[in-house]
Amino acid sequence: MNRVEGKVAIITGAAKGIGEAAARLLADEGAKVVVTDVDAAAGRAVADAIDASGENALFLEHDVADEGAWASVVEKTVEKFGGLDILVNNAGVASTASVEVETLEKWRWLQSINLDAVFIGTQAAIGAMKDSGGGSIVNVSSIEGLVGDPNLAAYNASKGGVRIFTKSSALHCAKSGYGIRVNSVHPGYIWTPMVEAVAGEGGDVDAGREALVALHPIGRLGRPEEIANGILFLASDEASFVTGSELVIDGGYTAQ
Ligand SMILES: NC(=O)c1ccc[n+]([C@@H]2O[C@H](COP(=O)([O-])OP(=O)(O)OC[C@H]3O[C@@H](n4cnc5c(N)ncnc54)[C@H](O)[C@@H]3O)[C@@H](O)[C@H]2O)c1
Repeated sequence: MNRVEGKVAIITGAAKGIGEAAARLLADEGAKVVVTDVDAAAGRAVADAIDASGENALFLEHDVADEGAWASVVEKTVEKFGGLDILVNNAGVASTASVEVETLEKWRWLQSINLDAVFIGTQAAIGAMKDSGGGSIVNVSSIEGLVGDPNLAAYNASKGGVRIFTKSSALHCAKSGYGIRVNSVHPGYIWTPMVEAVAGEGGDVDAGREALVALHPIGRLGRPEEIANGILFLASDEASFVTGSELVIDGGYTAQ
């Protein structure tokens, strides 16, 4: 199938987890993909696995919180593949701490990656997309951007920020006539390195995982590919009338 045939996509934090699955799926569906991550070894391996020839996949080492780096990532993408049609703002980090325990230092670090970088990246992508007929920006928020968790104070704040920032950007782009759609995706718990680390915090990763499973009415955790499917839909022209919306993919977590 060629649901994003000929499109050019940047996927941040694509060395593993949800970002890796999204990069692989977008490439399978015909996109040329730019895999970016701070983890250069794993990120390069993903790009090589997609296309070792480098013709359809490129890895760029990229810290999303570094404002200056964004201009270079977008420039290199356009130089290599001739444009930019899709940006998936996926890179993210977690901190398990309540409002009483969280430190300002960690709060600021987390916001810089989960929220500030989504702003910087969206701004950079709009600059590249608006004069070339438009595009699709997909911001990976979370169920934690919809409902609160007592032990995710900073993470909740960042993902809630991504949710409503997405709507502001979508409205601006729509009213400006840019042809750029901006949407957010809200995964439940997906078994990735991030969640494996969270599950292991109590010392028993299997018990931690079962506790997380119990939060999902569907009776299991999600798979990265199940989030990639939603990202693909929003990135593709099948979602041509979808902007400013939030796609919840959470096994029923927020339905109750
Ligand atoms: N796994 C889940 O259950 C879940 C649920 C909801 C939302 N999310 C969100 O989905 C996104 C992906 O999560 P995941 O579970 O795949 O995480 P992960 O930790 O498995 O992968 C995240 C990737 O982001 C990269 N990264 C971290 N900081 C970076 C930075 N400053 N610049 C560039 N890359 C950086 C990491 O190196 C890693 O490769 C995150 O935004 C996360 O908050 C995850």
